[in-house]
Amino acid sequence: MVTVTKGSNTLLDINFHDTSEISVPPKLIDQILGQEKAIKIVKKAAIQGRHVLLIGDPGTGKSLLGAAASEMLPHDVMEDILVVANPKNPNNPRIVTLPSGEGKIRVEMAQERARKEEGRRNMLSIFIPILVVLLVMMWAKFDPQIVPGALLAGIFLFMVMNSMRGRSEILVPKILVDTANVTTAPFVDATGAHSGALLGDVRHDPYQSGGLGTPPHERVEVGLIHKANRGICYIDEVGTFSIKTQQQLLTALQEKKFQITGQSELSSGAMVRTEPVPCNFILIAAGNQETIRNLHPALRSRIRGQGYEVFMDKVMEDNITNRRKLARFVAQEVAKDLKIPHFTKSAVEQVIYEAQRRSGRANFLTLMLRDLGGLIRTAGDLAVERGHQLVEETDIIDAKNLAITLESQITSDTIEKYKEYNLVRIKMGLVGRVNGLAVLGNTGGIVMPIEAAITPALHSGAGRIYATGQLRVIARESVQNISALIKNYLGKEISNMDIHIQFVGTHGVEGDSASVTIATAVVSAIEDAPIRQDTAMTGSLSVRGQVLPIGGVTYKAEAAARLGIKRVIIPIQNYGDLKLDKQYEGLEIITVSHFSEVLRNALIPSKAFIADRFKPDTAIEMEEEEDLVVVQKKQNTSSNPTVTT
Ligand SMILES: Nc1ncnc2c1ncn2[C@@H]1O[C@H](COP(=O)(O)OP(=O)(O)OP(=O)(O)O)[C@@H](O)[C@H]1O
Ligand SMILES: [Mg+2]
Repeated sequence: MVTVTKGSNTLLDINFHDTSEISVPPKLIDQILGQEKAIKIVKKAAIQGRHVLLIGDPGTGKSLLGAAASEMLPHDVMEDILVVANPKNPNNPRIVTLPSGEGKIRVEMAQERARKEEGRRNMLSIFIPILVVLLVMMWAKFDPQIVPGALLAGIFLFMVMNSMRGRSEILVPKILVDTANVTTAPFVDATGAHSGALLGDVRHDPYQSGGLGTPPHERVEVGLIHKANRGICYIDEVGTFSIKTQQQLLTALQEKKFQITGQSELSSGAMVRTEPVPCNFILIAAGNQETIRNLHPALRSRIRGQGYEVFMDKVMEDNITNRRKLARFVAQEVAKDLKIPHFTKSAVEQVIYEAQRRSGRANFLTLMLRDLGGLIRTAGDLAVERGHQLVEETDIIDAKNLAITLESQITSDTIEKYKEYNLVRIKMGLVGRVNGLAVLGNTGGIVMPIEAAITPALHSGAGRIYATGQLRVIARESVQNISALIKNYLGKEISNMDIHIQFVGTHGVEGDSASVTIATAVVSAIEDAPIRQDTAMTGSLSVRGQVLPIGGVTYKAEAAARLGIKRVIIPIQNYGDLKLDKQYEGLEIITVSHFSEVLRNALIPSKAFIADRFKPDTAIEMEEEEDLVVVQKKQNTSSNPTVTT
């Protein structure tokens, strides 16, 4: 029995011994956590027969929503679909639709008739030759010279009749869609299906001539869109289908029926084309932002005109209701897995804590639940290995080290290398070198040292900024913004300098969260002021020096701690997002809101005064009726060399 406790300071306000006491709702739609927006739309789509495009990150419940939609559709309107030979035009087989369950009966009846007919023909093919032999012998008055010839003629006749039997057999219909035993409307996942599997196909027949071949209707293969008739057709990454297939899918959506023909133009199957086959399905297309780009515009317009587009949530609010839902999620995953034991309450709380951490934001829980499910299974396997009756808190904690993502493994490897080669020299103060922080994938924090050096400008009066590290668009633009900041505030003539910025050991940098790091390295190089190497930093920067929030702060800070770094400078807005694992709690966190504060904390104490040159703009309050806060403009006195990055 689950009881509610009041005033508890734990993560869960309900009391239970283990998750076996938490009941799992029978319907899929009730098992989905978060995604309220998507649930509402999918429900509407199921009732009104609309199509849906779900865009979002992997493992956030898109397929689950599709399957849940099929449970909501009526299943008493199902129909069986048969393909029947067309004696007038064998290459154009007929399609027959029957109420659910009648398809099989029709086929069985035809088989029975075929069997009887065959029996009759069998009888005739024996009886007629015997009769002929007897008549011939009687006519010849049983002349012994005639007997062998008559017998031979009889055998020949038998063989001819036997070989003709196959050709005139009754053509039994073939069942394409059998809904006799269905309890819910079909849910067909057509992700990655080749065009034949998706749209139906007609097999090639090598013996098409001479009457030896398989009748065309028997070679017809049903498509997934037809199997989804009166149900859901779910397609992930629909943009990966060829344009032709997407066009055909569009036709199927419009017509609600689609003829089956051989997909390979060289095959004899291409000569066969059935009558239109019903495919009245709801399309639930899924994917990520890339999918939208590759989606055939007409197909997207069709979905938009006849349905909805939804962006899946990545996080849900961290409140008591959602924490309870996460507890139920653990119970669901255990029930689904069948191989792992239930979780104790404290183990569930560890899962909730991890969901907080993974959200990357204060007061939110992650909805990347496939990954979280992975952690649950790893902890379960560990508990089994350790002979635990229930999954305990320690199993989850240890599982976190086992279930680390590929990106985290890569970053751990990099961190080891940095340690080995002494790439980060914690105890020193170095000019032009700053420990930046970055994330690989979603969860792999990494320390990314950045170095800056100053050289006399190649072309006097036209100093440039050179940045290496294969910077992508946003990173390149951030370098540009930093040059504005430096020109604005430093008051130094920098038009005669070339500034070189290097992302040490890193390539393919994207994002602007290294802005504070680059700016610090450049200021350090220009001013010849050493930077504390026991400090790492992350933060985006406005052109006026304001530090702006970034993502992945927890993973970044933890990467710094793993390398032995003692202090981490982060944007003040990110402080709430920080959820360090216990082992990293000794790390000093410095929150900043302006670049001058970054410098004050990063420069060695004797040079900290340089930070004052970057004093923040003063904000003044407007008159009462204008409740705006306006930032005072600071005069720019330095000259402006052309800077290109
Ligand atoms: N919102 C959710 N509620 C409950 N369980 C979820 C949710 N999202 C994901 N899961 C769990 O993760 C598993 C995978 O989810 P699902 O297949 O629906 O993800 P998806 O969004 O379709 O991912 P992909 O884009 O990789 O196909 C589910 O079977 C379920 O166990
Ligand atoms: Mg999926």
